[in-house]
Amino acid sequence: MARVLWAPFLAALVAVFVLLSSPVTYAEVPNAVPPKGEHNGKDVPQPIEFPHDIHAKINEINCMYCHTYARRSKVAGIPPTSKCMGCHSVIATDKPRIQKLTEYWEKRESPPWKKVHDVPDYVHFTHEKHLKRFVFDNEGMEVERVSEVCAFCHGEVKNMTVANKVKPLNMGFCVRCHEANDGPSDCWKCHK
Ligand code: HEC
Ligand code: HEC
Ligand code: HEC
Ligand code: HEC
Ligand code: HEC
Repeated sequence: MARVLWAPFLAALVAVFVLLSSPVTYAEVPNAVPPKGEHNGKDVPQPIEFPHDIHAKINEINCMYCHTYARRSKVAGIPPTSKCMGCHSVIATDKPRIQKLTEYWEKRESPPWKKVHDVPDYVHFTHEKHLKRFVFDNEGMEVERVSEVCAFCHGEVKNMTVANKVKPLNMGFCVRCHEANDGPSDCWKCHK
């Protein structure tokens, strides 16, 4: 009799214990060991200071809405001005930075954005493979959280008022992450 009554109680107790002792995993990208290493990048003067925080954090626009190619090619791509104007022909038109953007648009020019990240030409890198592995083929990972994977190599861009290089992206950084996540280790995979 007593055994019958205790069993569910014990099961509940075990469940609570397991819950409390298992690491909290939600805040982390599942099935991934994040790379280690920081870099103190200087501000890159841009033709228009583009605030990632206003777009990606406050207005929750997905990184891949603008960096469309990241999921299917080597490069992530900088969005064309037409994409900006989809919103900025009506949003914040009184702001100086938007007026400058509109001038470029009317001249049919793109603001000459400067590169923030640039690995040497002898290095082979591709966004597609990394996004496939850590987002699209990764069970338990949602596309809405893609910025956490971008953050592995670019830091918390969604908090930035100006994009900055905050990860070293040197050989040690890449190789250590490949070792920790079963990525390729052959020299020729990263060097053509
Ligand atoms: C509304 C469009 C938009 C969204 C959304 C957006 N970006 Fe950007 N991103 C840009 C523009 C425009 C630039 C070029 C200006 C600059 O570098 O500051 C840029 C630049 C960058 C760069 C630097 C590129 C280089 O030259 O190396 C990185 C890295 C980046 N974005 C990552 C992200 C990540 C990660 C997210 C999501 C958290 C994101 N972006 C969301 C428009 C966007
Ligand atoms: C999906 C809509 C959307 C797109 C696309 C978009 N923006 Fe914005 N942007 C906003 C919103 C919303 C704000 C905040 C406006 C406000 O505070 O009044 C904003 C604010 C800004 C600001 C700050 C303006 C200021 O001085 O307060 C800049 C600069 C800017 N956007 C540039 C761009 C550029 C460049 C692109 C294209 C790469 C772009 N935006 C694409 C919605 C968008
Ligand atoms: C595994 C590391 C890694 C991840 C993850 C990553 N990037 Fe990159 N990204 C790089 C490297 C390395 C470069 C420089 C490439 C070069 O110089 O050829 C770069 C360059 C860029 C650039 C500028 C040049 C280009 O490719 O258009 C943008 C924009 C960018 N990344 C956005 C993103 C976004 C958005 C995400 C997430 C959806 C992301 N990256 C995820 C490593 C990464
Ligand atoms: C977050 C950890 C991580 C970081 C940081 C990282 N990689 Fe990777 N990379 C991987 C993994 C895992 C794979 C294997 C993906 C798969 O399943 O195909 C991979 C695959 C690749 C491939 C594809 C190889 C092939 O099979 O064609 C190249 C090239 C590559 N990485 C280069 C780089 C370079 C260069 C850097 C640094 C700028 C870098 N990676 C940074 C984890 C990482
Ligand atoms: C996961 C990608 C990756 C692998 C694997 C890799 N490298 Fe590299 N390597 C890089 C990157 C990224 C750089 C650029 C470093 C920089 O910009 O500071 C680099 C730079 C170099 C350089 C230039 C010298 C220097 O340090 O500036 C040499 C030489 C080199 N690698 C040789 C090798 C050899 C040999 C192997 C195999 C044992 C190898 N690499 C494997 C990513 C890789």
